Amino acid sequence: MTEFFSMSHFEASAAMIRERISFSPRIGLILGSGLSAVADAVEDAVVMPYDEIPHFPVSTVLGHTGRLVMGQLERQPVMVMQGRAHYYEGYSMAQLTFPVRVMQVLGVEILIVTNAAGGIAPAFEPGDVMLLTDHINLIGMAGLNPLRGPNLDAFGPRFPDMSAPYDAELQAMARQVAVEAGVPLREGVYICLSGPSFETPADLRFLRTIGADAVGMSTVPEVTVARHGGTRVLGLSGISNVAPVSPDTSTDPPSGETTHEEVLEAGKLLTPRLEIIIRALLRQI
Ligand code: HPA
Repeated sequence: MTEFFSMSHFEASAAMIRERISFSPRIGLILGSGLSAVADAVEDAVVMPYDEIPHFPVSTVLGHTGRLVMGQLERQPVMVMQGRAHYYEGYSMAQLTFPVRVMQVLGVEILIVTNAAGGIAPAFEPGDVMLLTDHINLIGMAGLNPLRGPNLDAFGPRFPDMSAPYDAELQAMARQVAVEAGVPLREGVYICLSGPSFETPADLRFLRTIGADAVGMSTVPEVTVARHGGTRVLGLSGISNVAPVSPDTSTDPPSGETTHEEVLEAGKLLTPRLEIIIRALLRQI
């Protein structure tokens, strides 16, 4: 297994996918934990399990289906990832962002990325949808940046700009369609940790202090690779649980456990809300 991938690896996957479809996908969609039902709405779907696609990482997590769904959603040619791989599963950053490179090779211009996240902002409640206005690449600051290694000049520069990771025009569209659909839309900053353990009370105080509104274990690596290759990005978090920030671990009672079951359960509530927003967006784009 190579540590880093090159264009020939991405091309091999793209060629296999192209053989199965008769269109060029314009929009990529990554569906996070418990949110994979959105892909069931894709029409004329060509479904490819990840393990049939060269070099694709296969998600091992419950709640992540692990297949690519190519087809039409709201008349847009889409490439939908029903489930994603995470760093905590043992994949390298290069592996888990591999599908984003394949999207770029196939001509995807816009990436809509979703995730399940813990709400840190005090007002957030389970079931809320949060529009990502920015992110904190904590996992990248700690050395796990997917762009580490030889730069792939065909996609973008060695030192890519990240001053606007989430596309302003797409954010404006999301705000508008959410109002029209009557889905309350929160906004905030997402922070990516490696997981798989959830946060300690002191972790959460730290994350809040540095400006995070929601915490999760994905998305930032994929967005980093997407932006490196010039793909426009919209990000949506489904707040699956609240990660309450207690003022003092020594005096406060524990604020309650966080479980993966809770995350998946909230996904059932969140999926219809996210689907309404995503479908309305696709009609506008
Ligand atoms: N913390 C980290 N990742 C998560 C959480 C959380 O509370 N909920 C869903 N993904």
